[in-house]
Amino acid sequence: MSIPLIEFKNITKSFGSVNALTNVSFHINEHEIVGLIGDNGAGKSTLIKILAGVHAPSSGEIWLRGRRIEGGWNVAKAHAAGIETVYQDRALAVQHTIASNIFMGREITSPLGLIRVRKQYEEAERLMREIGFTSRVFTPDSVIATLSGGERQGVAIARALYFEAELIVLDEPTTALSLIETQKVYNFMLAAKEKGSSVLFISHNIYHAYDIADRFVIIDRGTVVMQADKSEIASAEQLVQHMKDFARAGHHA
Ligand SMILES: Nc1ncnc2c1ncn2[C@@H]1O[C@H](COP(=O)(O)OP(=O)(O)OP(=O)(O)O)[C@@H](O)[C@H]1O
Ligand SMILES: [Mg+2]
Repeated sequence: MSIPLIEFKNITKSFGSVNALTNVSFHINEHEIVGLIGDNGAGKSTLIKILAGVHAPSSGEIWLRGRRIEGGWNVAKAHAAGIETVYQDRALAVQHTIASNIFMGREITSPLGLIRVRKQYEEAERLMREIGFTSRVFTPDSVIATLSGGERQGVAIARALYFEAELIVLDEPTTALSLIETQKVYNFMLAAKEKGSSVLFISHNIYHAYDIADRFVIIDRGTVVMQADKSEIASAEQLVQHMKDFARAGHHA
């Protein structure tokens, strides 16, 4: 067994009297796409905010490559660990270009502090090619507002890749996208995996998660109720049935 990239052990998170997560344990290996599935209010966003260091857990342990994190967990530590989170709406500055979005806040500068625009352009061009931007219409100077929803996710993933993310966390990247756009996002995720990153992909849509993930983590009312490799699940329908069974079991509890 390989050592997981990141592991949660018995993570609990309460907001006052609300228990958003209760004893959540799960892990993400290197080079894998994990689908995190759960209904509204299940605790998905809370979980990824803890991963990103935005929220500190109330209790429990976070382990990185087999070592327990000591002395608290925060945004700086998550960044240093190579965890890049793409939040659903706030991901990109839509009036700016692809290149300036990829480097926003972390520009490539000369020793005098000037932004190296040409270098950024070339790097953006390389990333777009590597991640599979097939359209000839777009250059690194294209404005985000002219891109489709799937392509925007691609820019956010390219940005994470440039910074050599170990783990790219995508919050509902395919919600509200058409089939063709969803397929583009899948291809971007596969390219990121090919380049050596792992991806945590949050979805309400079991069918989307089933298509792309190597492994599934199902969360229900703050608790992980199932983890399975894709090889253990015969079909998306079977995964749906599992979720229904858990929901029913919960209501009788
Ligand atoms: N800052 C907060 N303060 C108080 N309660 C919160 C806070 N954040 C989340 N919660 C509660 O924790 C629970 C889990 O919320 P969370 O946003 O993690 O769910 P989710 O799975 O992301 O749902 P959705 O699919 O609707 O985005 C909910 O009951 C929510 O109301
Ligand atoms: Mg959420």
